[in-house]
Amino acid sequence: MRASRSEVRTFNGARDVNRRADFPLLANDPGLHYLDSAATSQKPASVLDAIRDFYETSNANPHRGAYALSVRATECYQQARQRIARFLGVRDVDCLIFTRGTTEALNLVANSWGRAHVSHGDEIVVTALEHHANFVPWQQLAIEKQARLRVCELSSDGRLDLDCLRGLLNSRTRVVAFNHVSNALGTINPVAEIVELIRENSDAISVCDGAQSAPHLPVSFDTLGVDFYAFSGHKMLGPMGIGGLIGKRATLEAMPPYQTGGDMIEFVGDERTTWNVLPHKFEAGTPNAADAVGLSAAVEYLEALGMDRVLSHERSLMSRAQTRLEEIEGLRIYGPPALGRSGVVSFTMNDVHPHDLATILDGQGVCIRAGHHCAQPLMRRLDVPATARASFYVYNDEADIDALVTGIMKAREIFGYVPT
Ligand code: ALA
Repeated sequence: MRASRSEVRTFNGARDVNRRADFPLLANDPGLHYLDSAATSQKPASVLDAIRDFYETSNANPHRGAYALSVRATECYQQARQRIARFLGVRDVDCLIFTRGTTEALNLVANSWGRAHVSHGDEIVVTALEHHANFVPWQQLAIEKQARLRVCELSSDGRLDLDCLRGLLNSRTRVVAFNHVSNALGTINPVAEIVELIRENSDAISVCDGAQSAPHLPVSFDTLGVDFYAFSGHKMLGPMGIGGLIGKRATLEAMPPYQTGGDMIEFVGDERTTWNVLPHKFEAGTPNAADAVGLSAAVEYLEALGMDRVLSHERSLMSRAQTRLEEIEGLRIYGPPALGRSGVVSFTMNDVHPHDLATILDGQGVCIRAGHHCAQPLMRRLDVPATARASFYVYNDEADIDALVTGIMKAREIFGYVPT
């Protein structure tokens, strides 16, 4: 059933960005068309090697041993932090806290900063474009504190309605939580404009979900201007189980810890405990040093490609996909025009359920995600239970788009739509 990849061509001008051969899972399965990188990315051999190398040469518990091997493990972990901080434009390296990923980072802010600063009658603003990870923690905090959760609505093409946002902001607003790039529609939000609106109209902090921007766009925390930025390693060629929260030093220092335990303490008395300095205060327990090292290797890989070129490669794929998909009768694309999106295209086709579509595509070796994409508030506004979503990354090429289109045409046939 699967198409051969012997005829694979890459995009003109982007030939040097497509590195399928660097990714063992893809290289070992030439007929596989992986179009679900918004869920998780594939890993280059250099990342797998870095993790293995850490365990083979440097494995010990960081920060805990006086012996040379533990010192080496600590150095590997700290060097990984430095490299990732530089990649994301963070000058104050200790302000990058390692977490399990974006979800844990956002929960950290809601539980630590949120619990300390939000109280009865305050307001929290989220958007209708949020992944549940940047919606539910704020909703739960609002319930606990008897604060009011307000939702910024969208334009008909899936962009944040900035007039709506302006109208929601006031002196009671404590937090505005929004994503840089929507996981469900690929909408790229104007972060600088949003930050300015927040500053002009409130004293709220800004919490930016960067899970879908760090992998795909050049990102500089220091110039974005947000108070917090969260990201996940596994979506940016790194391993699962590592990611981070970036914040401003004064804010982080004033916050209580999120979790307590080993290594995050300064002094433990019988009655009270004092906290370690940044970043350790927020990294209780044995750190995930091996995966931090793996993520550092992923960052090295992305730096070598250049994030501008990563973005332009995805833009080429997006515009090709958009053109081809628009030609399919009965197919509806959600979200803004291709230029306002990252490499994500969300669609439905007539009354074929997205899960059925994804199953038929799977039979053709094409992996897409179908469902609500952890964005049920958005699905309600789109008035659909689910969409099908294809998402692109550095290893995709036009053969993947051809396979997607061929698979959708096949689904049309199966469901009795006459080919036009
Ligand atoms: N957040 C991931 C996605 O959008 C899982 O698919």
